[in-house]
Amino acid sequence: MRLLKQLFWVLLTLGVLLGATELFLYDVIKIDWVSFMEIQPTYKQMENPLPVPARSIPVEGAIAIPGMGMPPNPTVADAASIQRGAELFAINCQMCHGVAGDGNGSVAPFLIRFKPANLTTDVAQSKEDGSLFLTISNGIEGRMPALNENLTVSERWDVVNFLRTLKAEK
Ligand code: HEC
Repeated sequence: MRLLKQLFWVLLTLGVLLGATELFLYDVIKIDWVSFMEIQPTYKQMENPLPVPARSIPVEGAIAIPGMGMPPNPTVADAASIQRGAELFAINCQMCHGVAGDGNGSVAPFLIRFKPANLTTDVAQSKEDGSLFLTISNGIEGRMPALNENLTVSERWDVVNFLRTLKAEK
């Protein structure tokens, strides 16, 4: 009987200690250990990009200056550029816009509200190069993702040059 009583007290003490430790472990009581990794400036997955530091200059030059109209296409549409554009289109655009650019990509049936644009039509092809470039860069709010983080500036111009080859034959 005495042994049982002693066991009870031992277990109770252990339980209380464990409970107290858990309070810290589960951050019920928070201690700001300086060593916590999360206190550093971190960059979480899918977070918006950090703002560009003040007075920094983009390595590839200003891509488009607001209020200055469409940026001109600096890339000559030679075979090499179109070839690069074709490969980048296959990776970044084809699943939505389709192999032929007609909007019948494999993902298209799952896009309910806005179907990918048919890029072979006059509507799309009559746009300036700079307009296509900005669409690729910034996406279309709620319809098409911005691809400025997937494609460098010059890669985007290669894609624009490739888009021109998709123009529907008359
Ligand atoms: C997630 C699917 C998706 C991906 C990926 C995608 N698009 Fe789009 N795109 C769309 C949708 C949806 C629209 C909008 C159609 C609308 O406005 O109704 C669109 C519209 C456009 C337009 C505008 C056409 C117009 O007539 O104004 C262009 C140009 C375009 N996409 C090019 C591209 C290029 C180039 C890529 C790859 C670098 C690309 N898109 C990747 C879904 C996509």
